[in-house]
Amino acid sequence: MNDKADQTSAQLKTQIEALTNGPLLVYGSLLIKDKNGEKRLKNKTTALCRCGHSNNKPFCDGAHVKSGFEV
Ligand code: FES
Repeated sequence: MNDKADQTSAQLKTQIEALTNGPLLVYGSLLIKDKNGEKRLKNKTTALCRCGHSNNKPFCDGAHVKSGFEV
């Protein structure tokens, strides 16, 4: 990341980080609406599944480790 990107990211309220071989970490406040329309407000760090194997989608439940997800 360059200096300008560092300055911009410091000003954002929500940031997303892709972990190697793991979930997307979302830092900040967000409202998640699940497949049933149920809404959940998350205020700190949220791990979202990107391997497709979680039994608690859209959240990561650690299943990426067992499935051998690599990206
Ligand atoms: S990324 Fe963790 S269960 Fe899918």
